[in-house]
Amino acid sequence: MGDDTTPMGESSVPNSNSDGNVTTETGESSIEALARRIQESLTVEKRHKFWETQPVGQFKDVGDGNLPEGPIEQPTPLSEVKQEPYTLPEAYEWVTCDMDTKEMCDEVYKLLANNYVEDDENMFRFNYSKDFLQWALRPPGYYKSWHIGVRVKASRKLVAFITGVPARIRVRGDVITMAEVNFLCVHKKLRSKRLAPVMIKEVTRRVHLENIWHAAYTAGVVIPTPIATCQYWHRSLNPKKLIDVGFSRLGPRMTMSRTIKLYKLPDSPVTPGFRKMELRDVPAVTRLVRGYLSQFVVAPDFDDNDVEHWLLPKENVVDGYVVESPVTHEITDFCSFYTLPSTILGNPNYSTLKAAYSYYNVATKTSLIQLMNDALIVAKKKDYDVFNALDIMENESFLKELKFGPGDGKLHYYLYNYRLRNPLKTSELGLVVSAIIVVARLQSHLLPAAAKGLR
Ligand SMILES: CC(C)(COP(=O)(O)OP(=O)(O)OC[C@H]1O[C@@H](n2cnc3c(N)ncnc32)[C@H](O)[C@@H]1OP(=O)(O)O)[C@@H](O)C(=O)NCCC(=O)NCCS
Repeated sequence: MGDDTTPMGESSVPNSNSDGNVTTETGESSIEALARRIQESLTVEKRHKFWETQPVGQFKDVGDGNLPEGPIEQPTPLSEVKQEPYTLPEAYEWVTCDMDTKEMCDEVYKLLANNYVEDDENMFRFNYSKDFLQWALRPPGYYKSWHIGVRVKASRKLVAFITGVPARIRVRGDVITMAEVNFLCVHKKLRSKRLAPVMIKEVTRRVHLENIWHAAYTAGVVIPTPIATCQYWHRSLNPKKLIDVGFSRLGPRMTMSRTIKLYKLPDSPVTPGFRKMELRDVPAVTRLVRGYLSQFVVAPDFDDNDVEHWLLPKENVVDGYVVESPVTHEITDFCSFYTLPSTILGNPNYSTLKAAYSYYNVATKTSLIQLMNDALIVAKKKDYDVFNALDIMENESFLKELKFGPGDGKLHYYLYNYRLRNPLKTSELGLVVSAIIVVARLQSHLLPAAAKGLR
């Protein structure tokens, strides 16, 4: 059964040691190796003309233990922050996108639905719902001025977008107010014209105007310099559809009916007291999540307001479940996922892939495996096709056991104006950005370990 895996996309899965740290044969971390390879292979013209000018970790500095950890540049007095927006080409103008209005939400939705992230083979494209966009862009204390669009002056058409939202992120012992930058998108017809660096500089300027000097962001591309590189794992919930649309394929000696049987789940959660999170659970969930996240090197510093916004269930946006002890009524465990469908491009039978993304999960009394299995069960009940998770936090402890398979997508995490001495292991990372920006597909539909159960 071991050779029943069928690679798709990138074929190599990195070696993970027991800590989940991805290393090469020479013992270098994958980020160090990647940085060295990129640095060596690039001619001067091909280097990162924009990112090399920014206060971010540079590839040439990777492995230099003498550089201090922490802010790379000190804040400048607010009066010295550029007061006018950056200059755009004559035909375009800046617009601050008011996400409270239906019209603006519609425009942003359309730009992203047609131009946002696709997988390498252009089979799927993220299709963030309007409700999701409003949720992701309006957390406690958000700034409207950080929702930035570019319009064509003549036609009024929205052709580019970038956003930031404020977040308190703890790096080791320091809680730092940062911007989480997201949804960078340039219309397909305007690509490769160096508009992205102008968008990034403009959002940075507006972040500085609020006296905030750091940012966290993720990307599918490698730019200077990731603080961690994670991998997606996918758990088939509706294997037939996933195979039909090309998200995964049938293993060589597997039949459709055996595959369906392999991924079958019980009808309802098995943990007594497992129920949907309610408003009254916010303080208990905040306590659980804060306690859990304190073990990671980089993680959000959530308070009750953040938990109410980010983790309280919102139909078709975010789902949160608690385990309430039937005896003591104590809230002992929590799990959550958010909803991010993808448009299936050019398939005559299906138009949407309904995907759940693992978010924050805390197990204290229930085992994490059983808790996540219950999350899979409710996701299946709600008709999701696939359940995705990154190999961050303690996720590696359940991925294989619960029949997740590795995807062909990598997600790189970055900090702006904050240096970490060494890249992090994925298991040291406790941050999930609400919008994950890689469309990944399942590399192999059947894990040998998972398949064994059927023999
Ligand atoms: C990402 C996107 C906006 C980049 O625009 P583009 O027209 O391809 O690139 P531009 O010519 O404007 O700018 C290139 C510069 O932007 C940088 N860049 C490209 N993608 C980036 C990203 N996701 N995050 C940060 N910087 C990025 C490049 O590294 C390059 O800078 P460098 O010379 O220092 O390396 C565009 O390709 C796009 O909309 N893609 C689909 C959506 C998407 O992938 N969004 C990003 C999600 S992380």
